[in-house]
Amino acid sequence: MKILIVGGGGREHAICWKLAKSPRKPRLFCAPGNAGTGQLATNVNIPAHDIGALLDFARAERIDLTIVGPEEPLCAGIVDRFAAAGLRIFGPTAAAARLEGDKAFAKQLMREAGVPTAEARIFGPTAQEIAQTRQAGKGRDEAASASFQTGYDMARHYVATRDEGIVVKASGLAKGKGVFVHPEPYAALETLERLMVKRELGDAGMRVVIEEMLIGQEVSVLALVDGNNIYVLEAACDHKRLGEQDTGPNTGGMGAFSPTTALTENDLEIIEKDVFVPVIDALRRDEIIYQGVLYAGLIMTAAGPKVLEFNCRFGDPETQPILMRLQGDLLEAVEATIDGRLDQIELQWDRRAAVCVVMASGGYPGEYKKGYEITGLAEASALPDVQAFHSGTSLADEKVVTAGGRVLGVTGIADTIQHARERAYAATRLISFKGAYFRGDIAMQASNR
Ligand code: AMP
Ligand code: GLY
Repeated sequence: MKILIVGGGGREHAICWKLAKSPRKPRLFCAPGNAGTGQLATNVNIPAHDIGALLDFARAERIDLTIVGPEEPLCAGIVDRFAAAGLRIFGPTAAAARLEGDKAFAKQLMREAGVPTAEARIFGPTAQEIAQTRQAGKGRDEAASASFQTGYDMARHYVATRDEGIVVKASGLAKGKGVFVHPEPYAALETLERLMVKRELGDAGMRVVIEEMLIGQEVSVLALVDGNNIYVLEAACDHKRLGEQDTGPNTGGMGAFSPTTALTENDLEIIEKDVFVPVIDALRRDEIIYQGVLYAGLIMTAAGPKVLEFNCRFGDPETQPILMRLQGDLLEAVEATIDGRLDQIELQWDRRAAVCVVMASGGYPGEYKKGYEITGLAEASALPDVQAFHSGTSLADEKVVTAGGRVLGVTGIADTIQHARERAYAATRLISFKGAYFRGDIAMQASNR
């Protein structure tokens, strides 16, 4: 069996690593992959967004199954294109992936479905309105038409009426850089200007969601969804902020751990019943069948769990600790999802805890340099119960070098969160590259409880 994994980050390395353990011994290809996936799979030099080239490759190579990691190709319709060509693929269609790609759409759907979520208002033109203005032959600036100007004015006006913390979100895809948390609401005015007037995030920020700032522990709950059945995976926590004690800018995630101490079995059942079920049902009423991973980012507030966002894929770095704990066959779970028989599988989980510490390039999430040699990987991987998953790495003259913002996801597994942390941090101490930065407090709070 030949499997193509689309993407090239820590998530994709973890997926390759887990698939490589499948008793079915699949032959793996990863596009574009990284130095880590290259040890388990044949890396294919096609970027994850080049759907046409991926399709050609899958046809020519007679790929039996494609698994998509990142959101861009999903939102751009890779699943629709592969399915239309008769190729087997794991992930939601473009219509279903809108849950991630269009935050305003997700918010409206949650409202209609009665899913608990932060109170929010939506401002600015829809993607359709922007496209229509363009089609009418008008330039980018004219796309900022009446509806846009009104949206911006109304957003400013709304912000001026708030006296508690608010969060401004670019409605479109922004690679994790489209969310701005403002404990002081007036500071949101500058964000509105940057998004809606200066258009620092392009079209993605012309429409914004402004929501109440929620307080509580944040959790990531991922589920496999086969169109009908929902299989909730073990929960994880991600550390989104760059700095220790959750300070500094938001990033793609600086570390993660699983299980989380913030959730009980009962909470997970509530989340399945009040979040996953109504959202999948609401989509189905619109004739959208969700298939793939659905990831709910939630805050456990005093009033119960509330959804911050949906992602239409595995999380990165949550997937690293989650797959370290999965004992069953990932390939079997993926196939059961595609075939609509998730109700017939039972996955086994390692009861131990896994902690992933992300080692990043100095400067990330802003500008950073690439190409620095990484040493100590073999020593780190030789430690028991440790995996150094690669994110932004590549090979240069047979040496592993840095090639991205998040470079490695060093993951340890042990009987307690505390011990798993110690394992992961012991491994990070063996690894070095110029400018390496990582947080020293990943999973620290959870291990004190
Ligand atoms: P998102 O991409 O929507 O997950 O947002 C990125 C991060 O911003 C989240 O992981 C939270 O830490 C934070 N955030 C988003 N929305 C809210 C909210 N309504 N209240 C508090 N924090 C939020
Ligand atoms: N770790 C957050 C995400 O994958 O979006």
